[in-house]
Amino acid sequence: MLAQPLSALKKLSPSTLSHASYLAVAKTRAKALQAISLVVTVPRPQLFIGEQSCYELCDMMIHEGATKVLIVTDTVLNQLGIPDKITRYLEQNNIAYHLFDGITPDPTFSVVEAGLKHSVDNHCDAILALGGGSVIDASKIIAISQATGRKPKKLMGVLKASKCMPLYCIPTTAGTGSEATLGAVISDDKTHQKSLSIDPRMVPLASAVDPTIMQGMPAHITADTGIDVLTHALEAWMSVTATSETDYYAASATRLVMQYLPKAYANGDDLKAREQMGIAAHYGGIAFNKAGLGYVHAIAHQLGAHYGIPHGRANAIVLPYILDANRNVSKDRLAALARKTGVVDSDQPQANDDEAADYLIAQVRHLIADVNIDARVKDINPADFKKIAKGAAKEVRDTYTVPRYLTTAQIVAILHKIKAASDALST
Ligand SMILES: [Fe+2]
Repeated sequence: MLAQPLSALKKLSPSTLSHASYLAVAKTRAKALQAISLVVTVPRPQLFIGEQSCYELCDMMIHEGATKVLIVTDTVLNQLGIPDKITRYLEQNNIAYHLFDGITPDPTFSVVEAGLKHSVDNHCDAILALGGGSVIDASKIIAISQATGRKPKKLMGVLKASKCMPLYCIPTTAGTGSEATLGAVISDDKTHQKSLSIDPRMVPLASAVDPTIMQGMPAHITADTGIDVLTHALEAWMSVTATSETDYYAASATRLVMQYLPKAYANGDDLKAREQMGIAAHYGGIAFNKAGLGYVHAIAHQLGAHYGIPHGRANAIVLPYILDANRNVSKDRLAALARKTGVVDSDQPQANDDEAADYLIAQVRHLIADVNIDARVKDINPADFKKIAKGAAKEVRDTYTVPRYLTTAQIVAILHKIKAASDALST
């Protein structure tokens, strides 16, 4: 995400804004971001795909000169034996490693510091992240902290890393796409406030999409993380900073999720579906890396913070409402995506833009229903809605380039719909 160049425009952000001022600030920032996105080059990791891809990634580490690898993961994955495939291969190739399994969800600075200490004390010269978004984000900060000798907290912000240790990723979920992005989020130990670090240097050297590593992911997590991928793709597609390059990756990710998420959800042992979902997650990461996200993520982040809903599920709950909100302004784009991805199939070649856009939105709703997303939001309370709406509006204004800006009242209205749907399911 090219979020941070906009922070240079902070002067434009008075704390209290009318909607007209909000629009003026947001549109000025969007124009700046649009200009920046055209000239900034974001590196890409080497991508290995398939059941042998873990080994191909290890071979690359070895060829690049790694002598002792810090494997970063979490205790659940370690107890499930997920790292075994890697550690056996490293042993066979006489490459030393040290395993750190202390990463927790929404990792804090102290978690990152602990991983850093393991890496430094064991003289590791390469880092292999084996896990979901939390593991990969923490690994990125360990890698730039060890390389620069700077404390993790000092590396939050934009372009703070002058260098990075060789970093490699093997995602265990098909979701965040963090293995393809230039950002990492770390939480404060006391306040739990999240800080973002953005630097192209933390893009991993290589990533492996190995379906056997993702095989054991429970169905509900497959569903949640899969809709996260779809949301990355759709928000990047609707962004006003989308380019032909981001469009290619966003459309490809959308097509893959539509085709393979139901299969991966229904049968976790379907390795073809797992692999295609892993590729979709990677492509989604590439797309939103440059085009950014939007209101779905902004509201989902708030729902996660207030009610503890997992990120992917929160996106799944919000996504249909934002597609509805954007439907008129993004009609042409949504129709184009429906045609490009084959969602409007050959039976409907005559569908006009209205029909194609509506069909795409309907298909997204069907997919969310098919994978049984739990739309209940425990303890959702209208007393929170204004605060949630303001927080989401601020995130959009400061970070994203959306096709349509919503008022606080419009966001509150969406939250009431989310509550009504949740209440209906709870009774
Ligand atoms: Fe996401």
